[in-house]
Amino acid sequence: MPDINKLVRENIKRLVPYSSARDEYNGKPGVFLDANENPYGTLNRYPDPYQQNLKSAVSRLKGINKEYIFIGNGSDEIIDLTLRIFGNPGKDKVMIFPPTYGMYEVSAAINDLEIIKVPLNENFQIDVNKAEQYLDDKNLKIIFICSPNNPTGNCMHSESVEYIISRFEGIVLLDEAYSDFSDKPSFLRKTEKYPNLIVMQTFSKALGLAAIRIGMAFANPEIITYYNKIKPPYNVSTINQMAAIEKLSEGLNYRSQVKEIIRERERVAAEIRKLPVTIKVFPSDANFLLVKVTDADMVYRKLISNDIIVRNRSSVVENCLRITIGKPYENDLLLEALKNIQV
Ligand SMILES: Cc1ncc(COP(=O)(O)O)c(C=O)c1O
Repeated sequence: MPDINKLVRENIKRLVPYSSARDEYNGKPGVFLDANENPYGTLNRYPDPYQQNLKSAVSRLKGINKEYIFIGNGSDEIIDLTLRIFGNPGKDKVMIFPPTYGMYEVSAAINDLEIIKVPLNENFQIDVNKAEQYLDDKNLKIIFICSPNNPTGNCMHSESVEYIISRFEGIVLLDEAYSDFSDKPSFLRKTEKYPNLIVMQTFSKALGLAAIRIGMAFANPEIITYYNKIKPPYNVSTINQMAAIEKLSEGLNYRSQVKEIIRERERVAAEIRKLPVTIKVFPSDANFLLVKVTDADMVYRKLISNDIIVRNRSSVVENCLRITIGKPYENDLLLEALKNIQV
């Protein structure tokens, strides 16, 4: 069993965290004269630094204890904080499985951490044998696994993921941003079994709230304590907390929208497969499709000329476009434009 405390950077262990007015007094409400706020207005008070009401709502939705939850300013803040807790700049390493979500590499580079790249195999799965070679490197601190993966859209085999989590003595950050669009089970509850596992999810995809920048990390309470120790004191605004709580008060309504997106994904995939411009539509467990076409640059430009903007991913997967599933009429416009492209 990895000892989390041993993995944490020494300066983070020693750090005396910033203590906000709300850290020092969290008793019953009274006359608040302690935070240099303006006494007038409705948004004049600092946000709840630990987002207690939002965490209670997330805890109910996900069926996991509040102590296992951290809320970040988007998943991107969680990625950065994770690197800063465990990665000694100029010394430690992280592992990624490209092609994958770009922020792992960018954030690691900002934190001056070396990046070990173990490319996904031809089925876009983790090459466990290749990864294995690096797992005993004491400077390898964090492994990022994205499942369902962006931009390939598929889930990693759960046996490979669990093998890496149980075998590796460092931190595994499993990014499940798109898991609501998949019927494969989440690893969320495995955080109770594996102290080195961080599962990350977000309000930006299935919950439809990319604008409010709320990411969730689920992990052993020891790791959550370190997130709270180093995060900016008021990292999630009151307005954003309120919007997230309101969304969760609708209960499971969002799932019917997710079902609609999945239905559309399968319809669009079937239609695109029939087109002359298409070489392959990869199976997707997410709200987007990775499509290999005859000439990605040409198709991308033709779609733009029809005011349809997709993501050209040909720099990471040859001749591939990543197409987000839109509303049915938007998807129809896409299909119409693709049909009209001559090869
Ligand atoms: C795999 C993955 N993780 C995280 C994110 C970003 O999530 P957030 O909006 O919570 O920062 C994205 C965004 O596209 C993503 O593809």
